[in-house]
Amino acid sequence: MARGQRGYRCSSCGWQTIAYVGRCGHCGEWNTLEVFDEAPRAAGPRARAEVAPGRTVALSAVRDDEGERISTDIPEFDRVLGGGFVPGGLVLVGGEPGIGKSTLMLQAAARLAARGVSVAYVCGEESPRQVRLRAGRLGIGGEGITLVPETSLDAALAAIEGMGPAVAIIDSIQSVYVEGLESRSGGPAQLSEAGARLVGWAKSNEIATVVTGHVTKAGEIAGPRLLEHLVDAVLYFETAQGSALRILRSVKNRFGATDEVGVFEMTGSGLQSVENVSAAFLEEHEVDASGCAVTAVIEGSRPLAVEVQALAVPSALASPRRIAAGIETARLHLLLAVLARRGGINAANLDVVATVSGGLRLRDAAADLAVAMAIASAVRDEPLSRETAFLGEIALSGAIRPVQQGARRLAELTRLGFRRCVVPRGTHGVEAMQIVPVRTLAEAIEEARFRGTR
Ligand code: TYD
Ligand code: MG
Repeated sequence: MARGQRGYRCSSCGWQTIAYVGRCGHCGEWNTLEVFDEAPRAAGPRARAEVAPGRTVALSAVRDDEGERISTDIPEFDRVLGGGFVPGGLVLVGGEPGIGKSTLMLQAAARLAARGVSVAYVCGEESPRQVRLRAGRLGIGGEGITLVPETSLDAALAAIEGMGPAVAIIDSIQSVYVEGLESRSGGPAQLSEAGARLVGWAKSNEIATVVTGHVTKAGEIAGPRLLEHLVDAVLYFETAQGSALRILRSVKNRFGATDEVGVFEMTGSGLQSVENVSAAFLEEHEVDASGCAVTAVIEGSRPLAVEVQALAVPSALASPRRIAAGIETARLHLLLAVLARRGGINAANLDVVATVSGGLRLRDAAADLAVAMAIASAVRDEPLSRETAFLGEIALSGAIRPVQQGARRLAELTRLGFRRCVVPRGTHGVEAMQIVPVRTLAEAIEEARFRGTR
């Protein structure tokens, strides 16, 4: 619908139409349409502050600097942001409740404020006193941070405009509401409208803006996912149960690379950037157990070594269980099938559990061979040689497919003390690493060096 026009909007889902209808064309609710005047937004998602609506501009005449980056002074956060916040940009930080979103926001706010960057912090979720108490635990004095204890988005934005900060934090998007929309706070219509307003507001005021959003394990589709297409960058926190490691991943970033990960450790005094990520992921590798295999994945711009752990035990069930954490269940099933048919490793009567160290979710197919080897080691209950690592994607035929950036992966594994790596044929080696090129899964199993077999 064109801006500045009168129309109807569903109070349940936010669907908009020019002509009145009794039933919402999107969610199917009856009598939920309300008249509304689409206020001409100062700057909509697509409009830039320097171009008036309805005008055109020569591409060559547009400013080509992206504005100065505002470093958070937290290395792992900056890495995921692509160097820091961008004035006028809107960043979404999502994650399960309790994972550390508010902690990271407050720590970033303190670092920014310490360098004289003014920060407004909308604490819709907690009282100023609660935020003060958290700050106390984090050793943050709070100078230069202005709290905005508002749940009305309009009121919060008006308050922020009055102070004109460089950075605005809205914690969380679910805790603020847009006035005049009848649907419930945190509901889809509220989230979409709040997101759309924030995008325009951040751009027209040139304020680097961050919103946090809760993602629940069950309802990942609702909530912050609705905002992904609106905002400039989407960062999600991941973790494994019981692990203190927190992985912040950019799934979208108009200002930087996607799939970049930042790794933190949650400590008694807040989130600490982890400097040697691979070492943190391999912490448990010292344990001399069957079912463990190490690989190196490329996450964003850097290679990271991770350990895949598998357990295979006799099953009492007619269809044995397959439990995966950090590995897609469909991938686990596929690799089990290939292991059975091409590698002679049969887990048909075994419950199989497979996990990835540190809470990382594997997205890199080059980890296939390590997953398969961990399972093979678990099924045979024979540990693998501790200095051997594995790289390779596995095809249904059992062929080991080449991997990208093999040399960088090998270099990272070498740095961590691995001296031998089973790799796809055609992989170039690096110094101090013995590479063992293989063509098939069967060959890889031959070369894996299960202890007890040699
Ligand atoms: P929080 O940032 O409130 O999570 P979110 O905003 O994502 O819901 O983090 C809360 C958890 O972090 C809580 O379980 C306590 C823990 N925590 C620490 O371990 N150390 C700390 O210094 C702080 C502030 C929190
Ligand atoms: Mg919070």
